[in-house]
Amino acid sequence: MIIIDGPAELSGELRVQGAKNSALPLLAAALLCKGQTVLHNCPDLSDVNTALAILEQLGCRCRREGHDLTVDSAMTSWEIPEELMRGMRSSIVFLGAMLARCGRARLCFPGGCELGPRPIDLHLSSLRRLGVNIDESGGWLDCSAPQGIQGAYVSLAFPSVGATENLILAAVCGTGTTIIANAAREPEICDLCEYLNRCGGRIYGAGESCVIVDGVKELFGCEHRVMPDRIAAVTYMAAAAVTGGNVTLRDVDNTHILPMLAPFEESGCEVRQLGGCLNIMAPRRLGAVRHIRTMPYPGFPTDAQPVVMSMAAVGRGASVFVENIFENRYRHADGLSRMGASVKVEGKVAVVEGVERLTGASVEAADLRGGAALVVAGLAAEGVTRVGAAEHIRRGYEGLCGCLADLGARIRETEL
Ligand code: EPZ
Repeated sequence: MIIIDGPAELSGELRVQGAKNSALPLLAAALLCKGQTVLHNCPDLSDVNTALAILEQLGCRCRREGHDLTVDSAMTSWEIPEELMRGMRSSIVFLGAMLARCGRARLCFPGGCELGPRPIDLHLSSLRRLGVNIDESGGWLDCSAPQGIQGAYVSLAFPSVGATENLILAAVCGTGTTIIANAAREPEICDLCEYLNRCGGRIYGAGESCVIVDGVKELFGCEHRVMPDRIAAVTYMAAAAVTGGNVTLRDVDNTHILPMLAPFEESGCEVRQLGGCLNIMAPRRLGAVRHIRTMPYPGFPTDAQPVVMSMAAVGRGASVFVENIFENRYRHADGLSRMGASVKVEGKVAVVEGVERLTGASVEAADLRGGAALVVAGLAAEGVTRVGAAEHIRRGYEGLCGCLADLGARIRETEL
C-alpha cells in the first residue's frame, strides 16, 4: 500500500528511470544475440525481474549491478513456465526471439494488466506468415519453425507495439527479407532496432510505418543504453501539475514528450525543454485539459491517459477523453470518484468536470498506470489517501515513493 498525506507542493529535480517498455523487448533480444549483452540504465522493476527469470529459465546467465544488466546468452530450453508467463503480458515478446534462436517455443497465453481483452491474434497471424507453425490447443502455444523463419510481407491490421517487436525479433535472423506494413512507430521500437543493428542486424525504417528487415545469419551481443522512460516522465510532470509545483526532470528524451505536451500547456503549465532536461512550472489551479484522444505514436499515448485524467480531475472546467487503444482503461475513474472527482465514463469516452479540491480516500490500483494516476491525485487531495494493490505500480515505476518524497511529498509505502 502507498499512503499519501496531501496536499503537497512539489519542487526540485529528479532523474527519470530507463524505459520499462524498451528494457523488456531488449532483454528478449539479448536471448537472440550470441555472447554477452550489457544493458545500461535498466530500471529496477518487478517486470524486469520477471524478464530476467524467463531468460534464466531458458538457459541464459543474468547479472545485475545497479542499473547495468549483463546477459550471457544461451538456450537450453524452449519452454516458458506458466507462472512466469502469467506474471507479465509482455512475456509474449520472447516468442519471436525464441523462434529466431532455436526454431521452437512453448508458452501459455500471457497475463498482465486488466486493460480489457489483450489478444495476441496479430502476433500469431504475423508469425504464421513467416513460416511458423502454431498449435493453440489447451491454452498453450506450441510453436515451431521447421524450415526456419522465412522472410515475408506482413501487413498489421493495427500498429501493435508487441506484434511489431515480435515480428522484428523473429525476422532479424530469418532467411530473406521481411517487410512490415503498418508497423508501430513507438520510440521503443527504435531503441530495439538500434540495439539489434549494433549487434549485426539489418533493419531499416524503425519508427516509420514500414519496417524492412533483411535477415542475417547471426547476431552478437553488444552494450546498449536503455532510452529514458517517457511514461515515467509524464507521470512526474502530472504530479508537478496537480500540486502547483516547479519540477525539473533530467535524462528525458524531449522528442518523446512532444505528443504529450498539449494538456500541460492547455491547462496553464509552463514547460521548458533543453537538451535532456525538462522543467515544468504549474499554476496554483490548473485549467481544463480540454480534449484528449489516445492514438498510436506519434499520437497521444494511451499510457499517459490515466495521469492526465488526474490533472483534469482538479482542473477548472470540463475535459473529454476518448480512449481508442484499450477497451477497459478507465478503471482509475472509480478511485478518482471516491476522492471526489466528477468522472462520467461511457464506453470509450470519459467526461471529467474539474473540482476545486479532491479529498483523501482509500482506493485500489487496478493496473499499472491507473495506480500511478491515483497516487498523483492523492498528492493534490486534502487528507490521507491509501492506494492498495500498489504492487501493480512497482511493475513500472522504480522508487516512485522515494522520487516523490525527494520532491517534497509526504508519501510512504507499507507492506500490508
Ligand atoms: C505495449 O503493449 C505497452 N507494453 C503498453 O504499455 C502500451 O499501452 C501499448 O503498447 C500501447 O502503446 C509494453 O510495451 C510492455 P499493443 P502491447 O499490442 O504491445 C490490440 C504499460 O502500462 N491488439 O500495441 O500489448 C490490444 O488489445 C503498458 O506500460 C490486438 O487486438 O500493446 C490493444 O487494444 C500497458 N491483437 C491494442 O491492440 C494483438 O495481437 C494495442 O495493443 C495485439 C494487440
